[in-house]
Amino acid sequence: MILVTGGAGFIGANFVLDWLAGCDEPVVNLDKLTYAGNLHNLSALQGNDRHVFVQGDIGDGDLLTRLLAQHRPRAVINFAAESHVDRSIHGPEDFVQTNMVGTYRLLEATRACWAALPEADRAGFRFLHVSTDEVYGTLAPAAPAFTEAHRYEPNSPYSASKAASDHLVRAWHHTYGLPVLTTNCSNNYGPYQFPEKLIPLVINNALQGKPLPIYGDGQQVRDWLYVGDHCTAIRRVLDAGQLGETYNIGGWNEMPNLRIVNTICALLDELRPDPAGPYARLITYVKDRPGHDRRYAIDARKIERELGWKPAETFETGIRKTVRWYLDHLDWVHNVTSGAYRDWVGKQYG
Ligand code: NAD
Ligand code: TYD
Repeated sequence: MILVTGGAGFIGANFVLDWLAGCDEPVVNLDKLTYAGNLHNLSALQGNDRHVFVQGDIGDGDLLTRLLAQHRPRAVINFAAESHVDRSIHGPEDFVQTNMVGTYRLLEATRACWAALPEADRAGFRFLHVSTDEVYGTLAPAAPAFTEAHRYEPNSPYSASKAASDHLVRAWHHTYGLPVLTTNCSNNYGPYQFPEKLIPLVINNALQGKPLPIYGDGQQVRDWLYVGDHCTAIRRVLDAGQLGETYNIGGWNEMPNLRIVNTICALLDELRPDPAGPYARLITYVKDRPGHDRRYAIDARKIERELGWKPAETFETGIRKTVRWYLDHLDWVHNVTSGAYRDWVGKQYG
């Protein structure tokens, strides 16, 4: 079996659902269930005995040791993290605790378990760490996209804490020989993304007739990766990645934020027209994020060349699927936007 951390969050839940739909190998899913983790994301797995859910913290070394000894996974895939840049600006402490200390504890518990395995199992074992392109910092408009050789220049508390975790993973390979793989991906979008991130926030606000907040001039550029494509890439890296290597994963969809928001508005105009007028009327420019990175772009040629992976979705196909999913799952949005969510929106947007 495999051990997944953070499997009740956006990408982790998509990964666990895809994994169990595609193979028989069981999953132990360790998740703290912070505001971002939600068992509603996994409701399709109720009664499925190949999915073992454990509520707990990756920073809890004793729990990790017990779980690893009990289940003896052949791989650990680490999705667990605090993941929202704006929250990291308001309160970096949780980011240091989970992303840095938590990853350290997970590495240490995994190392002890791995070292005690019989030699054949030790050789096949993998620790896959899921990271972000934000560790590379910001790019000038015409600069080439990030390759795996780009230097680390994180600019936010979030990206700095992820960069630190990547360095720990690297060091546990070089120093202790732990068989690690690291992936650095661009902005994901798709089903089950918590509506604090740009795309689901805009869909949710538009449907409620609320302002669509654009930070600064809206010309910041991100690369957008459909979450299903990210999941196939991680499986491919787990199967065939070279130990100690890092792989950039991207969607070849570089786009400014304003264009993303206008695309969502146009899709909503088509699929759920608002009698009050086009959704783009709700676009509202707000104060920029402090230290806002201007541009991210991923050069994903290494994973294509070495492992034969490339994304299946274009932005046009992926965003249409995503908007439809949110329209079909308004109950999910309602369930996750609790009082805690409303407190956050009040704090961030006033
Ligand atoms: P998310 O915030 O939606 O989910 C994170 C999950 O981790 C939640 O279920 C939460 O409960 C859990 N968690 C948080 N702290 C924990 C702890 N201490 N112990 C155990 N579980 C804990 O995040 P996501 O968007 O699914 O991101 C998953 C991973 O991918 C993260 O490592 C993130 O840095 C990385 N990533 C995300 C994106 C993106 O666009 N979403 C892009 C690049 C990289
Ligand atoms: P986000 O989804 O928070 O991801 P990240 O900061 O990790 O890239 O934001 C994506 C882009 O959208 C980023 O440039 C910030 C911008 N943004 C807004 O303009 N308004 C918003 O309300 C949010 C949440 C983000």
